Amino acid sequence: MKKTVLAFSRITPPMAERLAQDFNVIVPNPKNGDIAAQFDEALPEAHGLIGAGRKLGAAQLDGALKLEVVSSVSVGYDNYDVAYLTERGIALTNTPDVLTESTADLGFSLIMSSARRVAELDAWTKAGNWKATVAPSHFGADVHGKTLGIVGLGNIGAAVARRGRFGFNMPILYSGNSRKPELEQELGARFVSLEQLLAEADFVCLVVPLSASTKHLIGAEQLQRMKRSAFLINISRGPVVDEAALVEALQNGTIRGAGLDVYEKEPLSESPLFSLSNAVTLPHVGSATAETREAMANRAIDNLRAALLGERPRDLVNPQVWK
Ligand code: DGY
Repeated sequence: MKKTVLAFSRITPPMAERLAQDFNVIVPNPKNGDIAAQFDEALPEAHGLIGAGRKLGAAQLDGALKLEVVSSVSVGYDNYDVAYLTERGIALTNTPDVLTESTADLGFSLIMSSARRVAELDAWTKAGNWKATVAPSHFGADVHGKTLGIVGLGNIGAAVARRGRFGFNMPILYSGNSRKPELEQELGARFVSLEQLLAEADFVCLVVPLSASTKHLIGAEQLQRMKRSAFLINISRGPVVDEAALVEALQNGTIRGAGLDVYEKEPLSESPLFSLSNAVTLPHVGSATAETREAMANRAIDNLRAALLGERPRDLVNPQVWK
């Protein structure tokens, strides 16, 4: 008998079709009423869950007695209670690697957009303001040759650093839990403390996973350490930054600008950030290209399929559950 797979966020029709080759697939549909209720109703029969962007722990999953695997269509897994899943012997998988380059592209576009005021000047031009050569008050800041500080030199951090080093001739600093000698050699990167990075970098790019130790890693004190001419770029997770402190720093000129893809509360439909011309605000689109989202979907399906067919999935977040 086919096992049952339940989607916990929107999945594309091709994903549903691929899954349906091996499984009964349930995709809650807003046309059929409340999706949360449809999810809760289907949950007790689900052997596998697939999706992204939803918190899943004891409160949501206690009734999922047949559950064997949660396959997240994301590299980050801060939405899941890993200890709880592990204790229940439920495998958790994610989709690393396939989104590295796209997310780094987006990180670099935030660097460029904040420094050269791309989004702000686009809106200004379209509003019919361009009557004469732009004044110095509209000048941006150079990116090439400036110092790029990467907080968390993992795969995505290294991909951002490569763009800076080889595309824009930027000296690279990095901070984190461990040194990366190979990357130091490849990128000429210098390992420094977070404090030193904040004090020296022209662009501080956050690429750390969210955990208890990285929550509010950047708050008022850290923003104060940055140069007044510096930019903060966040492509990691919103809660890594104390957003209220950031708003204040942007309003007071403590730092020059910020490029943000992630927020403490998502989706963000109202925020003091929206009235700040020195903040570029994107709707969590680091991996959101057609090609990358398709690759992530396929990787998540491969992981889920493997787990439910009894093969070790490639991207196990909690390998201890796999006997
Ligand atoms: C991830 O995969 O974790 C990215 O943030 C995209 O959601």
